[in-house]
Amino acid sequence: MIVARNLSQRYPRAGGEGPLTVLDDVSIEVAKGEIVSILGPSGSGKTTLLGLLAGLDLSSEGSVALAGSDLSNLNEDARAALRADAIGFVFQSFQLIPTLTALENVLVPLELLPAHRAIDRAAAQARATSLLERVGLAKRLHHYPAQLSGGEQQRVGIARAFANEPRILFADEPTGNLDGETGRGVVELLFDLNREQGTTLVIVTHDTELARQTNRIITLKSGRIENIEQRAGAGSAIGTEAKA
Ligand SMILES: Nc1ncnc2c1ncn2[C@@H]1O[C@H](COP(=O)(O)OP(=O)(O)O)[C@@H](O)[C@H]1O
Ligand SMILES: [Mg+2]
Repeated sequence: MIVARNLSQRYPRAGGEGPLTVLDDVSIEVAKGEIVSILGPSGSGKTTLLGLLAGLDLSSEGSVALAGSDLSNLNEDARAALRADAIGFVFQSFQLIPTLTALENVLVPLELLPAHRAIDRAAAQARATSLLERVGLAKRLHHYPAQLSGGEQQRVGIARAFANEPRILFADEPTGNLDGETGRGVVELLFDLNREQGTTLVIVTHDTELARQTNRIITLKSGRIENIEQRAGAGSAIGTEAKA
């Protein structure tokens, strides 16, 4: 489902120094239905890696193929179309549109669905409302982001990432701003999506409890893969398949 080979990301630096290497020769393959967690200290390149895997950014070196499409062969519009159809992304910094209400933010991906998956206005409203209810925001549908707490904004971001029923969902510290109970609810929701729809999950987290429930834990350090821990039977769709 995801094949990333030899990814490096470098940024030019001012003042005659060489470029800053943020990601250094990272290769990852993720199978359909697999749940992978990415751990690592702050600044180790987790958000950068997620952005490259999701096709939000292009790498300086290396390649990413998503659902069979090599991202470097796609132009910006084609990458956007692939994301609209197949990808969900929960941003660490939420990235909600400030001029839209919670409900309208969740409606955005539904308006961008490819023609063969398009749904009408009423169905879109119903789906967006139901997703916001599932993240506990039934009473916040018409609030603007500025009127919501950090945890509430994060949950709107999660509802939005689910809206297009993605084949692959990337989540960047999805429980980072949530209290224990709300965080567990969100994790349950992610795992439900995996079980019910076989959604492939790639989750950046600091929560070792959450990581232990995933099929594989990839630890980054200074932009390189430091360790990969394979965890059999972690209870995801792929684990179930293996047992069957
Ligand atoms: N656009 C950019 N230009 C220059 N440096 C960047 C850019 N984006 C990220 N970095 C640097 O890359 C490193 C890794 O960042 P990030 O991927 O956000 O780490 P993490 O998510 O693990 O905390 C940081 O040192 C950060 O300052
Ligand atoms: Mg980060």
